[in-house]
Amino acid sequence: MTISIAPTDRVFILTGAGISAESGLPTFRSDNGLWCGHRVEDVCTPDAWRRDPAGVWAFYSELRVQGQKAKPNPAHIAMAELEAKLPGRFFLCTQNVDNLHERAGSHNLVHMHGDLFKARCERECGRPPIDDQSVYATLDQVPHCPCGGRLRPHIVFFGEVPLEMPRIESEISRSTLMVVIGTSGAVYPAAGFVNWAHQAGARTVYIGPERPLNASEFTHIVEGKAGVVLPGLFTVA
Ligand code: APR
Repeated sequence: MTISIAPTDRVFILTGAGISAESGLPTFRSDNGLWCGHRVEDVCTPDAWRRDPAGVWAFYSELRVQGQKAKPNPAHIAMAELEAKLPGRFFLCTQNVDNLHERAGSHNLVHMHGDLFKARCERECGRPPIDDQSVYATLDQVPHCPCGGRLRPHIVFFGEVPLEMPRIESEISRSTLMVVIGTSGAVYPAAGFVNWAHQAGARTVYIGPERPLNASEFTHIVEGKAGVVLPGLFTVA
């Protein structure tokens, strides 16, 4: 199958953990996924942070180690190449907190669930997130903000509002083609984007080895691994 992109098309891409699976990063909900070995409530909620910041940092420090070792795969590279062919008409929204899209060469992207390699003040004191690649073995090693608050991972915990939503909504409303890659359709609002795009009249395509929970919302489903399917999938007129 090929997906043709016309000169009038605007493309919105949504990616999930599946696009990084072929880079060796575990997804969340597979049999050996991240939520198999950890309870969300222990590592990814505001309450977990209040109760056990050391445990939260231990979890995200381990993800940093894995993320630093991983390399972009052909699917990330295909996305960067597509962006280069569609100046001003391509937008990528990722739920992933790894930086493999950037390292593959993507530019016009947002991380709606945060960025693994940034940290910010736990007090929301107004200072912007800072770059932070560190791996923290103990809480003593975690720096504090000038305001005195401890730095927390720049991750959207369950129950918190995803980042950049106004921009995302605006990009969806302008898009004519939405391509969703490697996400199970279990987490909202991202799982609802296909519906918004569909209502705005866009074509909607899902790519992944199994059907997502929201499969019925898509115009087309391409079953296969992202790194195999994406290179060569698009023809740009
Ligand atoms: N290519 C494409 N898709 C793949 C591949 C692959 N090689 N391997 C697995 N997948 C698919 C799986 O079939 C599954 O549908 O990736 C999807 C991963 O789903 P989840 O583990 O649920 O990950 P995701 O949908 O990104 O999770 C959403 O949940 O816990 C939160 O914040 C976390 O951003 C995350 C959000």
